[in-house]
Amino acid sequence: MAKIRNGQRIGILTAGGDCPGINAAIRGVGKTAIVKYDMKVIGISDGFTGLINKEYRELTEQDLSGILTMGGTILGTSREKPFKRAGKGKNEISKPVLIKKHYEQLDLDCLVCIGGNGTLKTAHLLAQEGLNVVGIPKTIDNDVWGTDLTFGFDSAVNIATEAIDRLHSTANSHKRIMIIELMGHNAGWIALYAGIAGGGDVILIPEIPYDEKKIADYLLNRSRGNKPYSIMVIAEGIKTPGRDGSAAHYLSRRISELTGLDTRETVLGYIQRGGSPSPMDRVLATRYGSSAADLIARREYGNMVALKNNEIIPVPLAEVAGMLKLVENKDPLVVKARNLGTCFGD
Ligand code: F6P
Repeated sequence: MAKIRNGQRIGILTAGGDCPGINAAIRGVGKTAIVKYDMKVIGISDGFTGLINKEYRELTEQDLSGILTMGGTILGTSREKPFKRAGKGKNEISKPVLIKKHYEQLDLDCLVCIGGNGTLKTAHLLAQEGLNVVGIPKTIDNDVWGTDLTFGFDSAVNIATEAIDRLHSTANSHKRIMIIELMGHNAGWIALYAGIAGGGDVILIPEIPYDEKKIADYLLNRSRGNKPYSIMVIAEGIKTPGRDGSAAHYLSRRISELTGLDTRETVLGYIQRGGSPSPMDRVLATRYGSSAADLIARREYGNMVALKNNEIIPVPLAEVAGMLKLVENKDPLVVKARNLGTCFGD
């Protein structure tokens, strides 16, 4: 393929929690930038920490080979939020100023920020400081505003669904109420999708407040109606009164008290974020990465790449920053699950 000489020098960083597909996105940006546009690609270490400390390395096409299927991020990540406590001590330079200085010293034309809500907000603030920035939405939580999907989500739903499938064995054999707690931060997307895919009888998400007694009645009705076991899929972000420990632990105790049924809890945790990305995430991350390089080539900075009706489009970071995409009570999936008799606890 004939290169389109573009001459830009781009930095790539990955920030926030790791998730499956980050390396596929790095590869998508990097390979397109090098192969199609003949750009120079600089990998920044450990999210914004790497720009603060000026830790980086050039990424060649060779460095980007063999990483498509790998979990985690070859660049490392951190939860550094440079604009939080951005004030400086005596003789200390503030983090945003350091980032700007190092961006200039590295002679970057654009910085690609691969991350979730926190990262995209920081990316927007850096754009306001005059940096050229392009964002790529990444998170298992799927809660980034302005895009239909984030990569990482599909892999997490696959992993969570497999876990629920496996819980059916013990639920069935021992006639128990099995409660599984899934990640998602303040959003219920993972619990909703995996709950439906895994045939959860009760699905609790932060967006729909629940009543313990209604859940207890629902479970007792099932057990009286020849369904002696049930699966409850709950999101980590649901509210529980005076919680000490996991939401699953709290509900396991409460449901047992209210129903007299045998309950057990599982907190799936970081398993949901680890390992090789699903084929769908590899494809989405590749599309996002490659489209981000196209945006940079056209110098359309200040945007995030987003999926809308199966097309990748630019969405201004200003529209995304500080926003959250949450599940709505009228979401078609919630409606369909209710039609099947799934209990949302309300
Ligand atoms: O945003 C991804 C996520 O895994 C959330 O689902 C979860 O609440 C959070 O990160 C956990 O954060 P940490 O990696 O800092 O423990």
